[in-house]
Amino acid sequence: MERIHITDVAPRDGLQNQRVPVLTGAKLELIRRLAAAGVQSVEATSFVSPKAVPQMADAAALVPQLKTAVPGLRCSVLVPNLKGLERAHAAGAEEIAVVLSATETMNRRNINMGLAEATEVSEQTLAAAQRLGLRTRAYVAVAFDCPFEGATPLDEVVRLARRMHEAGAGEVVIADTIGSAAPGQVKARLAALREAVPVDRLAMHFHDTRGMGVANAWAALEAGVRRFDASVGGIGGCPFAPGAAGNVATEDLVLMAAQSGFDAGISTDGLIDAVDYAEAQLQRPLGGRSITWLRRQREKARETQTG
Ligand code: COA
Ligand code: ZN
Repeated sequence: MERIHITDVAPRDGLQNQRVPVLTGAKLELIRRLAAAGVQSVEATSFVSPKAVPQMADAAALVPQLKTAVPGLRCSVLVPNLKGLERAHAAGAEEIAVVLSATETMNRRNINMGLAEATEVSEQTLAAAQRLGLRTRAYVAVAFDCPFEGATPLDEVVRLARRMHEAGAGEVVIADTIGSAAPGQVKARLAALREAVPVDRLAMHFHDTRGMGVANAWAALEAGVRRFDASVGGIGGCPFAPGAAGNVATEDLVLMAAQSGFDAGISTDGLIDAVDYAEAQLQRPLGGRSITWLRRQREKARETQTG
């Protein structure tokens, strides 16, 4: 089995858009269950304006508790600007992710900057983070389509991915923010992106709005990508990108990968425990396409054990 790496973004991308307020302790418990399932890295929260995203207002309280709650887990936090980096560093974060959208309008809606300014601010934030000794990721968001401007030009995505790589981003995360990509496009975009960024530094971040998340991940696997974002239970969606559904579910991705010869080091039984907990917190049914099947398999296995 070849190894793949999954960053579970449920605690940030998954929760940021939820109407039910989730307490800091509950976020920690969700992260603890992810770690118990074998997840090796998560995006834990974001240091953004609490007015923009009230659900992430507790970032400075959450981060210091991660070291004891989930020792050894790699925890990244999203920061939109230098103020976010300062707050993240003060809280003890060891890894940050900047978020650059590939269109003018999406940057304005998301972080109130134009594309040129957002690019410069992302570069400055990456540079400052590296001076502080932090690990870094850089999102290139709306890398397929923008909810405001339509199809995103590939040249632009490649140009920005290259700039983020040259600015020292440890991982460049190509994000299908609204979940509009299809496998053929993933293949075509990755052929061009691989020329700009070494494939082992590329990660793919798919949303499952149209049920193509797993197919898109497969196209990326075939194109040589081994790093993925996913969200347990398929929770998620950007409040500033209308029409976006949740991320591809971690359990769906892990299952597909395992049956295709790729090991994520994550137990699907452990993920079910995390989905159960998230359901109780958010008070609604969650889970990707495979959750019912996975639960049934676990039941069957338990019945066999108890005879
Ligand atoms: N964290 C917390 N507060 C922040 C901040 C950050 N990273 N950056 C700026 N602020 C504060 C400023 O200090 C200022 O506070 P004040 O009103 O008390 O003086 C206020 O926000 C406005 O500052 P300004 O620089 O004018 O920001 P803005 O209003 O243009 O908003 C962002 C810019 C980036 C802070 C805001 O758009 C944002 O938080 N976006 C995040 C969106 C997001 O999370 N999207 C989903 C993930 S991709
Ligand atoms: Zn996302």
